[in-house]
Amino acid sequence: MNQTITVFRGDGIGPEITDVVLDILQTAKAPLEFEIFDVGAAVYEKTGAFIPEEGLKSFEKNRILLKSPITTPIGTGFKSLNVTLRQKYDLWANIRPAKTNPALPCRFEHVDVVTVRENTEDLYIGEEIEVDADTVHAIKRITRKASERILRKAFEFARENGRKKVTCVHKANILKKSDGMFLGLFNDIAKDYPEIEADSMIVDATCMNLVMHPERFDVMVMPNLYGDIVSDLTSGLIGGLGLLPSCNRGEDFAMYEAVHGSAPDIAGKNIANPTALLLSACMMLDDLGCKACAQTIRNALDQVFAQGEVLTPDLGGNATTTEFVAAIKENLNR
Ligand code: NAI
Ligand code: MG
Repeated sequence: MNQTITVFRGDGIGPEITDVVLDILQTAKAPLEFEIFDVGAAVYEKTGAFIPEEGLKSFEKNRILLKSPITTPIGTGFKSLNVTLRQKYDLWANIRPAKTNPALPCRFEHVDVVTVRENTEDLYIGEEIEVDADTVHAIKRITRKASERILRKAFEFARENGRKKVTCVHKANILKKSDGMFLGLFNDIAKDYPEIEADSMIVDATCMNLVMHPERFDVMVMPNLYGDIVSDLTSGLIGGLGLLPSCNRGEDFAMYEAVHGSAPDIAGKNIANPTALLLSACMMLDDLGCKACAQTIRNALDQVFAQGEVLTPDLGGNATTTEFVAAIKENLNR
């Protein structure tokens, strides 16, 4: 039986990449039905809501969401819709794998790192307090409960995927109580996974080492803000934001999305790279038990990369999104 999933088309490059990803999923005969919703700025102008109520109801029913990027208005008092979705549905584990593809232009050959990002707290709770006209305090919340579950998730992920090492990324030298608790819990939980090497690194040193020696890293687990920043860094290691998929999982719901944003600078130009959203859809298929279908799509994509003739501009080519997708579909139909 086909699984029904909810799809948010996003804004900026969102609709362009969503439509082609759904097209590829259908070409690959993925056993899915789609309930598709427009979301974002254009919908807000028409209806007064960034995400239509029916869209949220659909997600609550289907429990699986394929989500395209949504622009966050800056400084308007609107909380990021992405942050809102992650908190409302308690999508507490954000997993972002970054692996080099040998066929693509890139500074490194053997990067294979996974960022496991806590997704519900830290500075992203959005509690900013104006103390007086010249001073604002932003609250960084770290709780035992949220820390324990994400730390355990990182080790479980390592165990399930045959990974060898988990690195805790933190700033406990300065934030002795908040990050200090996170690191302390990490060291405790690591004892339950004796077969997996556990180490820790301060976040700034991590950034330097990732750029110098990315091959030394495996799974990395960290609070929300560092995860946001470090995972973008890992996308740079493998050739750009257009390549990095992610899943956001909780107990009851899962949301799959590209790591990148709505890329307003290239929206509407038919040059966006849909790979990150397509690989996110493959993570979704894996989780739904359709591993063979996911692998077929990844193979078709890898062939396009290996042929190296039809690449979008972010990968050094001059193909349009339409041409890139046609090449993937051609491989699927073969
Ligand atoms: P961005 O990720 O949208 O773009 C950064 C740079 O990467 C741009 O030069 C863009 O053209 C390029 N890029 C991104 N994705 C690409 C793709 N698929 N193909 C080719 N090039 C690509 O980050 P930016 O500009 O900081 O954010 C734009 C908006 O997106 C903001 O409103 C931000 O809040 C929102 N955003 C939404 C996210 C989400 O919905 N999950 C995540 C990150 C940002
Ligand atoms: Mg980000």
